[in-house]
Amino acid sequence: MKDLLAIRDLSAVEVEELLVRAQCLLEEGCGKLLPDCFVANLFFENSTRTRFSFEVAQKKLGIHVLNFQDTHSSMQKGESVYDTLKSLEAIGVQAAVIRHSDNGFFQHLKQGLSISLINAGTGNEEHPTQALLDLLTMKQEFSTLKGLNVAIIGDIRHSRVARSNFYALKMMGASVIFSGPDIFRPDDDILRKESAWLPLEEALSQADVVMLLRIQFERHKKHLGMDPLTYFRTFGLTEERAHLMPDHAIVMHPGPVNRGVEMAPSLVESPRSRIFKQMQNGVAVRMAVLEAVLSAQGSPLTWV
Ligand code: CP
Repeated sequence: MKDLLAIRDLSAVEVEELLVRAQCLLEEGCGKLLPDCFVANLFFENSTRTRFSFEVAQKKLGIHVLNFQDTHSSMQKGESVYDTLKSLEAIGVQAAVIRHSDNGFFQHLKQGLSISLINAGTGNEEHPTQALLDLLTMKQEFSTLKGLNVAIIGDIRHSRVARSNFYALKMMGASVIFSGPDIFRPDDDILRKESAWLPLEEALSQADVVMLLRIQFERHKKHLGMDPLTYFRTFGLTEERAHLMPDHAIVMHPGPVNRGVEMAPSLVESPRSRIFKQMQNGVAVRMAVLEAVLSAQGSPLTWV
């Protein structure tokens, strides 16, 4: 695994191996160090969880972390992303963790580069490490992903989290239900064909996992035509609607959460919520991904 660009590039066996390794890192702490590795984080779009959990993961592995800031870089003088990465490669950086708002960002980039590339979220198409940490959270709860019903609710159309989770969950034998306002219904053929689109109450009553999504205003071309309170009353997880969920069902959200819009403020830290568990799992999953990618680069792993 030289790069991790999309969940669709992984096999079910590779996903399982990453989840097992992440769980092991959670239980046993850091087993290996990568002390001579240099990894750069290039975030061209805002982030809190992904950026800092990658940085924590890197530091736990003993990696030298370089945080790139495009506004202070030679990209301001016209240097392309490709030449930026080629330069990082030349000065000894083995991997780059990149977030970007463009779909297809990695498509033509990887030809000619030996530096490993890790997708930290691109446009509305992929967020592979988010899907892995979500799967790990579900697996911890239910032991297996096979046969789970996962209801993903909200702005599916503009969500990379929904897409990466859809592909990962289907690969691992789970079923995906989508729900939300009709304008957020996905327009991809495969998502439409291989998932159910259900009214909110029905989706909630069938779900083992309810995954709520933020409205991705930054990717909208049209006005939503609804204020936040109306959205919450019509499509949000209110305390009343949460009673429709089976007793064993859990609530997840990739964050950032807009309390009182996609879900009731009180549910964010309720016993059903696994939102902060997801974030905690994000560090272990990113450690497992960094280990896999950097060992493929030939970096020696050193037992502590
Ligand atoms: N879940 C997620 O990608 O959050 P950030 O945008 O804060 O990284």
